[in-house]
Amino acid sequence: MTKQSIHGGWSRRLTFILAAAGSAVGLGNLWKFPYITGEYGGGAFVLVYLVSIALVGVPLFIAESLIGRQTREAPIRALDSLAQASGRSRGWQSIGWLGAVNGLLILSFYSVIAGWSLDYLLGMAQGRFSGASNDEVAAVFDGLLGSVPRLILWHTVFMVAVVWTIARGVQKGIGEAIQLMMPALFALILALLVYGALEGDLPAALSFMFSVDFSRLSLEAWVVALGHSFYTLSLGMAVIMAYGAYMPSGVSLVRTAGIVAVTDTLVALLAGLAIFALVFGNGLDAGSGPGLMFVSLPMAFAQMPFGSLFGAAFFLLVAFAALSSAISLIEPIVAFWVEKTGIARTKATVLLCLFAWCLGMATVLSFNAWSSDTLFHDWFGKTPFDSFDWLSTNILLPLGGVLTALFAGWFVLPALLKQQYQEGGDSKGFSVWLFALRVISPAGVTLVLLTGLGVNLW
Ligand code: PHE
Ligand code: NA
Repeated sequence: MTKQSIHGGWSRRLTFILAAAGSAVGLGNLWKFPYITGEYGGGAFVLVYLVSIALVGVPLFIAESLIGRQTREAPIRALDSLAQASGRSRGWQSIGWLGAVNGLLILSFYSVIAGWSLDYLLGMAQGRFSGASNDEVAAVFDGLLGSVPRLILWHTVFMVAVVWTIARGVQKGIGEAIQLMMPALFALILALLVYGALEGDLPAALSFMFSVDFSRLSLEAWVVALGHSFYTLSLGMAVIMAYGAYMPSGVSLVRTAGIVAVTDTLVALLAGLAIFALVFGNGLDAGSGPGLMFVSLPMAFAQMPFGSLFGAAFFLLVAFAALSSAISLIEPIVAFWVEKTGIARTKATVLLCLFAWCLGMATVLSFNAWSSDTLFHDWFGKTPFDSFDWLSTNILLPLGGVLTALFAGWFVLPALLKQQYQEGGDSKGFSVWLFALRVISPAGVTLVLLTGLGVNLW
């Protein structure tokens, strides 16, 4: 008998891949990747992001899912028991605590942005955009950001959806919906890309995203590209570790990591191309920030035949993609709390989401009342949203990721690692993987963080 998680498991290999892909593919791909690529200048930024996915992200994805599957426990306890089994300090469980705090922090603003797509879903369904001029489309976005009640309403609706989904449990809640959503999302992005090629400026988008000019890459951009490679694969905060606990034994860790990374990257690149084709075709500013997707795509939906229908479908899928990511942000903490104290799953979920909801108010206000001219802004030079985003993604995720890599690479008994690695049928690549964990990730992340954060190494 192999050990099972008390939260249930995913019986089929495909279900695990879908759930992990559901966690990975989210606002990070559709909304964030395009706008940070725009802000940080395109090609060179994309290259750093891709290299970091391959060298740091994939090995870490394997490590996290391995730790979860080895122990079949929620992250904090998983780290603790693996440390004990390897004769190491119990302090390693702090990686799990770090991830828990970070998950709540990310969920607080993730939900607000997901709420924007719900507002757009309704707007599209009502035909609010059909035939609208570019200025009118832009005004809709400004109107949304200016309306605190509307932002709070959608933030609340989204958070309730998160609670409801998690309360139904792992097997039903997370696994099912994703099987329908992912292919549909792919199809719609491809359709948008075709539209962008016909009506927008695809060559400009291609050259913006793929012509590499390192002289335009700021130190800050390195940090953001690295941070985003963690964020987009849901790494560095023990989410994939939590999901690994539900993963069937015979499944290849390496193949799974590869499939998820490729899927996630494809969605990001295709969405980016579609958006930039429309951005350049409409003479918009690629570096305009968080509103990029919410302005460029509706301009296309406003003009295309059946645009309201396509638009509604698109924002519905964005909201679903965000939902399957959001539940993964909070699932590790819920699972830990349930395992530790026996608290009811629903109660734990409600309390944690309520906390994240309250914290989300700071993000709601970041786009209006607190967008500038506040004490917070004076101190940090950023809005609360930008500060939370920066801290969680660019500092805490890489930190959690490096600690996980160091723990797995240097402190877990190699025999344990090797046995679990091979359990899914992976016979090759173990030492390459171990080298990536031991040397490449720690060195790469440390270098980027230290230089990027202004420590002069030379
Ligand atoms: N990977 C998700 C996205 O790209 C965000 C996420 C980050 C989810 C960290 C879970 C953990 O949108
Ligand atoms: Na992602």
